[in-house]
Amino acid sequence: MRVTRRDVCLGAVAGLLSGQPGWSSGQDILLRPAPVEVQWPGSDRALTGLLGFNGSVPGPEIRVKQGDDLRVRLENGLQDGALVHWHGIRVPNRMDGVSILTQDVIPPGGQFHYRFSPPDAGTFWYHAHYLSFEQVGRGLFGPLIVEETDPPDLDHDITVMIADFRLTPDGTFDTEFSVMADFAGAGRLGNSIRAFTSRDTVRAGARVRLRLINAAVDRVFPLEVLGVAGAIVALDGMPLDQPMPLGPIEIAPGQRADVIADVRSDVSFGLTDGGGRRTIGGIAATGAPKASRRHPVAALPRHDLPHPRLPARRVDLLMRGGVGDADHGGFGTWAFNGISGLPPQPIARFRRGDTGVIRLRNPTGFGHAIHLHGHHFREVLGDMSLGPLRDTLLVAPGEQREIACVFDNPGRWLLHCHMLSHSADGMATWVEVV
Ligand code: C2O
Ligand code: CU
Repeated sequence: MRVTRRDVCLGAVAGLLSGQPGWSSGQDILLRPAPVEVQWPGSDRALTGLLGFNGSVPGPEIRVKQGDDLRVRLENGLQDGALVHWHGIRVPNRMDGVSILTQDVIPPGGQFHYRFSPPDAGTFWYHAHYLSFEQVGRGLFGPLIVEETDPPDLDHDITVMIADFRLTPDGTFDTEFSVMADFAGAGRLGNSIRAFTSRDTVRAGARVRLRLINAAVDRVFPLEVLGVAGAIVALDGMPLDQPMPLGPIEIAPGQRADVIADVRSDVSFGLTDGGGRRTIGGIAATGAPKASRRHPVAALPRHDLPHPRLPARRVDLLMRGGVGDADHGGFGTWAFNGISGLPPQPIARFRRGDTGVIRLRNPTGFGHAIHLHGHHFREVLGDMSLGPLRDTLLVAPGEQREIACVFDNPGRWLLHCHMLSHSADGMATWVEVV
C-alpha cells in the first residue's frame, strides 16, 4: 500500500515547536500567519498562493496540559487582516477571535496576545477567523491538543488533520475564491485531499490514539480508518461516556473524532463516498506484530460540564438560501431567520447557567454544519434523551434537529455554518449570555 509522506514543511516546523519541553507554559508561543510556498505530493515545484502559520500548512501543533496557561502572540504577516479562533475551546469571550463580537481585526503588521487556560482535555484546532472561507482555504489552520492530566496508556498519540485544496488543471493552487457557484452550492470543494499526520510510521501491535480533525472549508469526509481495531472515544474534543465501535465516521467541517485502537497492519484513511473507496493517506506499520493488548479501550475521563435541564426555552433557527432559494429576506446567498450576516441583536439572550434549546431547521438543498462558539451542546433525540457533547452538528438537507446547551460562558457568541463559504455569504448569527 502506498503511504503518503507527511508534508515536508510540516515536519520541519512540528519538530521545532511541539517537541520542546516547557515551551507551552509561561512563555509566549508565536503564531505568524504569512504567505508560504508548499511542496505538494505529485508536483515537482512548490505551490504558491497558500498561507501558513509559521511557514507551514498545517500550522505547528500546539500542545498543552489541561488547565495550563496558553499564551499566544499572534503577529500578522499577511497583506490582510488576521484573527485566530480556538475552535471548541471554552475560552473567555474576549479570546474567541471573532470580529465585531469579541475583538477588532488585527491589521497587517499588527499583533494580539491571546491568553487562556483550556478547561477541557481533548482534540481541538485553531484557524483563521477573518475572511475564513479564503484564509482557511489557503491553509491557515493547525491542531490544538489539550492533554489529560492523567493521559490514557498509549504508544503513540497521532494527529490526523484532513483538508481539501483546489488545484487548477495545470497543477497550481487555485486562488480564485469568489466563485458564485461555490457560495450558493456545496461550497469550495477541493480536488486535492490531504491527510496530514504527525507520524509516518508506527510499530505493528502498538496502541495508538488518532485525533481526526476536519479542517476543510466546506467538505464533509465520510471517513474510514483501516488497519486498526479499536473504538471512537471522543467527538469534538469531548469524551464519550461509552466508547463506540470503530466504523465509518462522518466528519463535517470543524468536527473532530478521537480513536484509540491497536495497529494490525498499515493504517490507511479512506473516503467511502461515491460507492468506492479512495485512500487519502496513511501511516506505515513497522516490525513484527507483537501480541496486542488484552484490555479493551476504556472511556476517557469525563469532563465536568453541566447537564442541560429540559424542557427549556426554545429558539428557532431557520436556514434558507442557496441555489433555488433566493427569496429568503436576506441580502446574501444564505440567511438565518431571514437575515444574512450578523444581526444587530442576538437571536437569543440567556441568563448565565440557563439551558436553551435551539431548533435547527434545514429546508435547503444542502447540508450545514452548525457550530456554536464558547460552548458544547447535546442533541435532543426523539425520546427526549440527549446525544453526546458536540460543538458542531451536521444538519442534512430537509432535516430538523434540536440542540440543548447550558449557556454558562458569558459574552457574545457566534453561531454559524462551518461550511465557511456559507457563513461568508450569510449563515452567521449570535447569542448572548449575560
Ligand atoms: Cu471553527 Cu467560527 O469557527
Ligand atoms: Cu452551510
